[in-house]
Amino acid sequence: MIKIKISKDPETSAREFANFLLTEHTKKENLNIALSGGSTPKLLFDIMAGEFAREFDWSKINFYWGDERCVPPTDTDSNYKMTYDHLIGKVKVPKSNIHRIWGENNPEEEAVRYGKEIMNHLPLARGLPVFDIVLLGLGTDGHTASIFPHQIELLNDPHICAVGTNPDSGQQRITLTGPVINNATTVCFLITGSAKAQRVDEIYNQKGNYTSYPAAHIAPKSGILLWYLDESAGTKL
Ligand code: 6PG
Repeated sequence: MIKIKISKDPETSAREFANFLLTEHTKKENLNIALSGGSTPKLLFDIMAGEFAREFDWSKINFYWGDERCVPPTDTDSNYKMTYDHLIGKVKVPKSNIHRIWGENNPEEEAVRYGKEIMNHLPLARGLPVFDIVLLGLGTDGHTASIFPHQIELLNDPHICAVGTNPDSGQQRITLTGPVINNATTVCFLITGSAKAQRVDEIYNQKGNYTSYPAAHIAPKSGILLWYLDESAGTKL
């Protein structure tokens, strides 16, 4: 069951998620979150590093990524670089709390290495690591993390991480697999903008070709699924 929160604009939507994260992090000594990449989270990260900077106890949050482009951390395409520029480079997160995917590494080797890093740090349930929160975005083709429609089998991949490929650019990515994402306590989509409205409608209302969209198969086994939308993305709901 998807719980949807529609806000009037992207900033309000981001603030709603930031408040949710703030509440969740007060409940735990250590909160393990996997962040999404792309452009949508930039506003969220700016808000967290700005008006929320003094609200969070940053030492209680362990930052992972749901996916990363196979590029160096200095590359403008790097999700780590985006997160550093907008959040973790601006607030006092202990270095030991930052679990970067080594985009500069050999992709197959990094998928194994990162999977081991996650297994070594996170609690397990159902034989898989449990993230407290996985933050996801939605691509206009229905992808999420770096599970693209042409590699929908990654939704059932037995490994913790896998190598995905952006079908448009051919760029390789490291991504959490579907079973790990769906093993999380909470999965949150943060989706804004009218470009996503069609997919949001199709997935939520199970219309059209929705089963071909990886994002449509994100359903936490025993957790909750939250969608934080702005009105533009939710306009068809
Ligand atoms: C990535 C993301 C990806 C992203 C969607 C939406 O590495 O690109 O993790 O899954 O969330 O493509 O991207 P935008 O936020 O840029 O629309």
